[in-house]
Amino acid sequence: MGSGGREHALAWKLAQSRLITHEGGTLYAAPGNPGIAKLAQVVTLDTADHAGVAAFCLEHRIGLVVVGPEAPLVDGLADALRAEFIPVFGPSASAARLEGSKGFTKDLCERAGIPTAGYVRTRSLADAEAALGRFQPPYVLKADGLAAGKGVVIAATLSEAQDALAEMFDGRFGEAGAEVVIEEFMVGEEASFFALTDGATIVPFGSAQDHKRVGEGDTGPNTGGMGAYSPAPVLDPILEGEVMEKIIAPTVKTMADEGNSYSGVLFAGLMLTAQGPKLIEYNCRFGDPECQVLMMRMESDLGELLLACADNRLATCEPPHFAHDTALTVVMAAKGYPSTPQKGGAIGGIEEAEQGGIHVFHAGTARAADGSLVASGGRVLNVTARGGNVTEAQAAAYRAVDALDFPDGFCRRDIGWREVAREAKT
Ligand code: AMP
Ligand code: GLY
Repeated sequence: MGSGGREHALAWKLAQSRLITHEGGTLYAAPGNPGIAKLAQVVTLDTADHAGVAAFCLEHRIGLVVVGPEAPLVDGLADALRAEFIPVFGPSASAARLEGSKGFTKDLCERAGIPTAGYVRTRSLADAEAALGRFQPPYVLKADGLAAGKGVVIAATLSEAQDALAEMFDGRFGEAGAEVVIEEFMVGEEASFFALTDGATIVPFGSAQDHKRVGEGDTGPNTGGMGAYSPAPVLDPILEGEVMEKIIAPTVKTMADEGNSYSGVLFAGLMLTAQGPKLIEYNCRFGDPECQVLMMRMESDLGELLLACADNRLATCEPPHFAHDTALTVVMAAKGYPSTPQKGGAIGGIEEAEQGGIHVFHAGTARAADGSLVASGGRVLNVTARGGNVTEAQAAAYRAVDALDFPDGFCRRDIGWREVAREAKT
C-alpha cells in the first residue's frame, strides 16, 4: 500500500519473491503509480477506509499486506487487518506511536536507558517558553505528532525559538503540534539504521545516509529526502553492534514488556556523537528514499521475510543478506519542491537512463490523457545505481540522470558527498 518511490522499490523486490514467481501469488498495489503498474495489478483503495481495505483483502484472499507509509499505521490500519486475520507487515497503532508521538518515544528511551538527547515535553506556550531556559542554543523544537518530516525547528537564538514555539502552539502543525518536545542539540554525523522484528526476534536490515535538505551542501529547507546511499560506512560494524545492543534491542523489549509489541521495520535516525550513537527519532516504516537503496542491494526473498515478520516466525528465517557493494539514489524533484512543486511536467528518457543495471523508481508520476508520463508530485523519480563504492555509484547515477529528459525537474548534484570526500582521501 502506497504510491511513492519506496513502494515502487518494495513492489519491484516483492515481484521477485518466490511467493509470486513460484507459488502462484498475485501482486496488487493500492494506489500505486505508473512505475508500480508495470509490476503489479493496481487497485483503487483508500488507506483511511480500513473496512474497505479489509474487504478487498478478504475477497482476493490476500496473503500479506505490506504497508508503506506511516500515516495508515499510526491510524491503526494494521490492527483493522489483523482483526480479520489478514497477515500484515507493519506495527499496530499502539506500537506505531514510536513514530506518531515524539514524546512517547522520548519517555520510552528514558525508561529503557536508551541514549538520546535530553528533553522536556510541553503542552502550552507558557510551559515551553519556561523550559527553554534549561537548554543552550541552538534550540531543537519538535511537534509531537506526524508532520510529514516538517515538524522539527532548529532555532539558532532564543528569540527565534520563542517565535517558532508561538507558531507551533498556534496550530502550524494542527493537532500534531498540541504538544511540543524541546531537545538538547546533538552534534555529529547522521545515519539511518534499519531492523526487522516480529516483536521477539530482531535482525539488522542495513544502513543508509539520507540528504534531507533541498540544496547542495545540505542547505535550504528540509524535504522528505533528496537522495541516499547504502550502506553508510560511518556506521561501521562495531557501531552497528552498539546500536543493536543499546538502542534497538531495549526498544523492542520494552515495547513487548509493556504490551505494545512492535512488528515490522524499525527505522532509527541516529546521531553519531563523540559519546557514541544516539537516537534522534524512530520511524515505523522504511525510509523514502532509503528503501530504494536497501532494495537494490538486498539478495534475500523480501516476500518471505516480511511474511515471516507478519507471522511472528522471523526466527525461522535465514537472516537478510545484502550485496557488499554500494547503491546510491538521486531524487529528481519537480521545480518548486518542497514548497510548491510544479505539476504536469513531461518526463522522457527513462529507458535510456535504465541501462546497465540502473533502476528509475517512480514516485510522483502520472499518465496524462494521451498516455505520456508527467510529474504529479514533489519528488518524482529516484534514479538508483550500484557501484563498488559511493564514488562509483554516484557517477553511474548521475550518468543516468543526464540521460533523462525532464526539463521541469531538478536534483542535487552532490548526493553522497560526505563519503565521496572520505573515499578521495583513502
Ligand atoms: P527528525 O524529524 O526528528 O528526524 O528531525 C529532523 C532533523 O532535525 C534530523 O534529521 C536532524 O538533522 C535534526 N535534529 C533533530 N533532532 C536533533 C537534535 N536533538 N540535535 C541535533 N539535530 C537534530
Ligand atoms: N527519508 C527520510 C524518511 O523517510 O523519513
